[in-house]
Amino acid sequence: MTGWSPTSWQKKHALQQPTYPDIDHLDRVVSQLSQLPPLVSSWEIESLKTQLAEAADGERFLLQGGDCAESFADCHPEVIAAKLKVLLQMSLVLVHGTKRRVIRVGRFAGQYAKPRSSDTETKDGTTLPAYRGDIINEHAFEKTARTPNPELLLRGFERAALTLNFIRALIDGGFASLHHPEYWDLDFVEHSSRGTEYQNVVESIGESLRFMETLCGVPISDMNRVDFFTSHEALHLSYEQALTRTVPRRTGWYDLSTHFPWLGLRTSQIDGAHIEFLRGIQNPLAIKVGPNMALDEIAPYIKSIFDVLHPENEPGRMTIIHRFGVEKVADYLPVLIEAVQKTGKKALFCCDPMHGNTQISSGGLKTRRFDHILEEVERSFEIHDLTGSRLGGVHVELTGENVTECTGGARGIQDTDLERAYKTQVDPRLNYEQAFELAILVAHRASQSSS
Ligand code: PEP
Ligand code: CO
Repeated sequence: MTGWSPTSWQKKHALQQPTYPDIDHLDRVVSQLSQLPPLVSSWEIESLKTQLAEAADGERFLLQGGDCAESFADCHPEVIAAKLKVLLQMSLVLVHGTKRRVIRVGRFAGQYAKPRSSDTETKDGTTLPAYRGDIINEHAFEKTARTPNPELLLRGFERAALTLNFIRALIDGGFASLHHPEYWDLDFVEHSSRGTEYQNVVESIGESLRFMETLCGVPISDMNRVDFFTSHEALHLSYEQALTRTVPRRTGWYDLSTHFPWLGLRTSQIDGAHIEFLRGIQNPLAIKVGPNMALDEIAPYIKSIFDVLHPENEPGRMTIIHRFGVEKVADYLPVLIEAVQKTGKKALFCCDPMHGNTQISSGGLKTRRFDHILEEVERSFEIHDLTGSRLGGVHVELTGENVTECTGGARGIQDTDLERAYKTQVDPRLNYEQAFELAILVAHRASQSSS
């Protein structure tokens, strides 16, 4: 890889990085981090890459989900278990509907840094650095809290390790018994206009599981260890650099902070530092594509990004997460699909129906409408079908808790309900019931898809 090293990004322009008052302090922390054991292994990364290649061929479906930003305060067993539970249950519904194996990827164990539209925030005449995520500074509007602190990189790394350790223990230790619909919280089903349909799906999953258990003579939890992979936005480049290592008996460099890093919309400049960093690592990569560029800029952008990040057309290397929003998806998605087809290279397409559908509620809160989210997914399936392409995954912001951040869903959450349990510090997430309902509708739609 010509001219690349884990630090070569430093010669390029890096957007969205914090300004640390003491650079020597940052260097000491990065050096400490680079001595610590990694969070994931190259073996797991290669296994995910193989599975993503199979998804691109229509043999698997990708479910990627979790918080917009993890918070240190939420590094808590109940919160982590609830998130894992909803992802696991959604994945079962998807297996049932799509008849494909599902790749489960969390936005967790490192999703601590956020891009911001402005470097600063002003309140009552005071200007302070913007909050950039718990790994960078604290949310409280106060000078010390908002000053970027390198020690938080270590605190974030430790929490990522604790989170992952707990997740690994749960999935090794019979957590998969949550496969059983008996353990699911499905009271909301009766509030839905599609209640009977949902009930049928759940009963049919229960029957399949009981059938399998009878057939094999062991409980399903002993039969299969489910895989969970981690992902986060590769945003804070000093952190990613510190966890990027070579591995015995393998060639190349692996970013061992996560299995599946993605490139966010705001740091996707072709000649920028983020693309420079990502081009040199062996991990599978995802890139977000949104309506922040003109339609005629999409094809040249995809061509140049594939030249740099996907030069060998390696199976499983490239996932495109499109997030155009319900109003723009019909204009943009066909152009994006054609641009990818023109490169002659393979990619997995995944729909993020969250980030293009953010709006402000009548009470001034950031929210998303459940019907917009569903409609973007629905239209994306349709457009992929019509253009001979394939939608192979969904990417959602969710939590296993009973928050009120997105409106709509079976219980018909209104703008006026949002304040009841509005907990996010950044983007609004689907709650347990909305996430589950989305999975049922995606599974239903995917099963009708022609590809
Ligand atoms: C995100 O995934 O939280 C995010 C910031 O997305 P995007 O880069 O697509 O805006
Ligand atoms: Co977000």
